Amino acid sequence: METFRVKSEKFTYPVVTGKESWRLFRDVPQGRYSSIFVVTERSLWRRWSKRFIEESGLRTAPALFVPSGEPSKSLQMLERLGGELLRKGADRRSCLVLFGGGVVGDLGAFLASVYMRGVDCIHVPTTLLAQVDSAVGGKTAVNLGEMKNLIGTFYPGRMVLSDPRVLSTLRWRDFRSGLYEVVKHAILDGRSLFKLLETSTHTLRPGAADALESIVARAVKVKVDIVNRDEREANERMTLNLGHTFGHALEEATDYSRFVHGEAVAWGLLAAARLGRRLGLLPATDSDQICALVRRLGPLPSIQDLPPAKILRLLPQDKKAVGGTIRWVIPEKIGKVRVVTGVPRCEVLAAFREIQAMK
Ligand SMILES: NC(=O)c1ccc[n+]([C@@H]2O[C@H](COP(=O)([O-])OP(=O)(O)OC[C@H]3O[C@@H](n4cnc5c(N)ncnc54)[C@H](O)[C@@H]3O)[C@@H](O)[C@H]2O)c1
Ligand SMILES: [Zn+2]
Repeated sequence: METFRVKSEKFTYPVVTGKESWRLFRDVPQGRYSSIFVVTERSLWRRWSKRFIEESGLRTAPALFVPSGEPSKSLQMLERLGGELLRKGADRRSCLVLFGGGVVGDLGAFLASVYMRGVDCIHVPTTLLAQVDSAVGGKTAVNLGEMKNLIGTFYPGRMVLSDPRVLSTLRWRDFRSGLYEVVKHAILDGRSLFKLLETSTHTLRPGAADALESIVARAVKVKVDIVNRDEREANERMTLNLGHTFGHALEEATDYSRFVHGEAVAWGLLAAARLGRRLGLLPATDSDQICALVRRLGPLPSIQDLPPAKILRLLPQDKKAVGGTIRWVIPEKIGKVRVVTGVPRCEVLAAFREIQAMK
C-alpha cells in the first residue's frame, strides 16, 4: 500500500493505492458523520459491496444507484439524487462514499459539493481511469447536453481509496481506456514508467492486481505531483490535457457513442506525437515509441470515416481554448511536454491525416 498526500485549498487528503486500501476507511473517526450514503451503480454494488463493507467496516450504508454510463452525468440525475438524499435523511454532517468509475465520481462529488452547500465525500474508484485520474484532484462535473463537464466545481474528497483488486471485473475495453491515460501520465513523467509499460504490455490485464498495484501507484504519483503544484489549472495542470484536444473532438464528432474516453485520448496521443514531430519539437524516435506503445495496447475504434474538416471545426471547443486560441500540449520528449499556441491549421490537419492513415 502507498499513501500520497494532496494539498487542496481547504485541507490535505490522502490518496491510498494498493490491495486492502479499503481498510483505511476505518481511520475515519467514529461519530464524525451523522450518516454515510454510498453512491454507486447497481451491478457494481451487487458484485463488490460484501467485500467493501467487510473491509471498510461500514455498518449501515444506504445506497443510491445511478445507471451506468455517461448520460448519468446530468443535472436531472443530480436533482434526482439530491431528492433521494433528502428523503433518506441526509443532513449537513452526512458523507457520500463514491463507489464507481469516473461517472459516479464526477457526478457524486458534484452532488457532495452542492448538497446543503457541501457535505464530505470519499472516493472509492473502481475503474483504472478513475484510480489514476478522475478521483484525484477534485474536479467534479456534469454535462449539459453535448457539452461535456460544462457545469462543475473543484471539490476534492476527504480520502481516495484505490484497491487494484476491484479492477478484476472490468471489461477489457474499459481497462484499456484507463491504460491509455496511464500512457499519458508516463509521457508526462519520463522514461521509467514508460519503459515499465512497454515491458509489461503482455502481462497487464484486469485481474493482474500485483502488476497493477505498482502501475497505479506510479501513475497516481504523476497526477498528485502536478495537482499539488497547480490545483486550479492555472498552468501546469493543463499538461494533463495531453491527448485530449483531439480526444474530445473525436468523442463529440461521434456523439460519445463510438469511443470510450480513453480510446479517444489514445487517438489524441497519437495525433499529439505526430504533431510534435511535424513541428520539429519531438524527435522521430520518441514519436515512434509513443505511437508504438499506444498501438500495442490494443485495437482502437476506427477514425477513417471521420471528415478531418469536421474534427478541426470541433477543436476550438476544447477547454484548453482560452479566448479562442487552442493551447496544444505537445511532447518534446518522453518525460517533457510543452504548451504551444499558434499551431498552423495545416499542420494540425496533416497530423490528423497521418493518424487516419495508420494501420
Ligand atoms: N474529474 C476528473 O478529473 C476526470 C478526469 C478524467 C475523466 N473524467 C471523467 O470520467 C468519466 C470516465 O470514467 P470511467 O472511464 O471510469 O467511466 P465509467 O464510470 O462510465 O466506467 C466505465 C464502465 O465501467 C463499469 N465499471 C466501473 N467499475 C467497474 C468494475 N470494478 N468492474 C466492472 N465494471 C465496472 C461502469 O459500469 C461503466 O460501464 C468521464 O465522464 C470523464 O469525463 C473526469
Ligand atoms: Zn481523460
